[in-house]
Amino acid sequence: PAKSYEFIETAEPRPGVGQITLNRPKALNALSTPLITELNQALAAYDAAPEIRAIVLTGSQKAFAAGADIKEMAPLTFSKAYTTSFIESWSAFTTSVKKPIIAAVSGHALGGGCELALMCDILYCTENANFGQPEIKLGTIPGAGGSQRLTRAIGKSRAMELILTGKNFSGKEAVEWGVAARAFGSWEELIEGSLKTAEAIAAHSKVAVMAAKEVVNKSQDLPLRDGVEYERRVFHSLFGSEDQKIGMKAFAEKKKAEWTDK
Ligand code: HXC
Repeated sequence: PAKSYEFIETAEPRPGVGQITLNRPKALNALSTPLITELNQALAAYDAAPEIRAIVLTGSQKAFAAGADIKEMAPLTFSKAYTTSFIESWSAFTTSVKKPIIAAVSGHALGGGCELALMCDILYCTENANFGQPEIKLGTIPGAGGSQRLTRAIGKSRAMELILTGKNFSGKEAVEWGVAARAFGSWEELIEGSLKTAEAIAAHSKVAVMAAKEVVNKSQDLPLRDGVEYERRVFHSLFGSEDQKIGMKAFAEKKKAEWTDK
C-alpha cells in the first residue's frame, strides 16, 4: 500500500515504473527539509520495492522546483548549517539509490531545483523549462553540487557565466549544452516521453540496468583509466548473473528474453 506524504505524491503509472511528483504548489515546490525527507523516503521505498525497475521524478507544469526553501534558509547560521550538515542529505540518493531516476523538468528548476535535476540519471525537460543557479543574487552560492555537476555537464566557462551572473537558461539550451538528453514541446509530451523511457528501461534485466547505472556514474568521479577498469570488473561480474545467460541464449534462439533478475 502506498504511503501517504504531505509534500510529494507517488504513483505507479506503468509496469515497473514508480513516479514521484513534488507537490508543494503554493511555494513552487521549494525544497524544504520536510519535502527532501519525504523525497528520500519515497526513493528508498522504490529502490527496495522488487516490482519497481525505474523511477520518474517530476514537479508540476509550472515548477519542477524553485530552489531550496529561501524562507527556511534565511535565518540559518554558519554553526547550525555546519554542525547539522545542512544539505548533505540531499544528494545521499545519488549513491544509495541503485535504480535509474529520470528527472522530468517543466517550468522553474532553479538553485537547488536545478541541482536536484542534475543529480538524476537522465534529465528530460520541456523546451521552455527555466533552469538556473540564481544563488549569487541571494548573496550565496550553489550548495547542492551545482558548481560541480553543472560544470562537468557544460564546461567551466559557461558554468562560470551562469553561476556568477545568476542568469537562467532554457530547456532548449539545456539540450544544446548536454545538460538534458531531450527537450519536449509540451508538458504532456514530457510526461509521456519520460514514462516511455522508464518503461523501456523497466523491460530490461534489473541486474544489468543497475550495473549500467553504477558504471556510468563512476565516470563522473574516476579518472578514465580507473573508470574503464571499474567497468571491466563489473562487466566480468555480470557473467555470474542468470540474466546474461538468458539474454545471450535468447538472442541465439531468436526469442524474447524472459529475465529472472538473478
Ligand atoms: C521559498 C519560494 C521559493 C523558494 C518561490 N517561493 N520560490 N519560497 N523558497 N525558493 C514562493 C514565493 O515566496 C511565493 O510565496 C510563491 O512561492 C510563488 O512565488 P512567486 O515569486 O509569487 O511566483 P512568480 O512571480 O511566478 O515567480 C516565480 C520565480 C520566483 C521566478 C520562480 O518565485 C523566484 O525567483 N523564486 C526564487 C528562485 C530562487 O532564487 N531559487 C534559488 C533558491 S537558493 P508567497 O507566500 O509569497 O505566495 C537555493 C540554494 C541551493 O536553492 C543551495 C542548497 C540546495
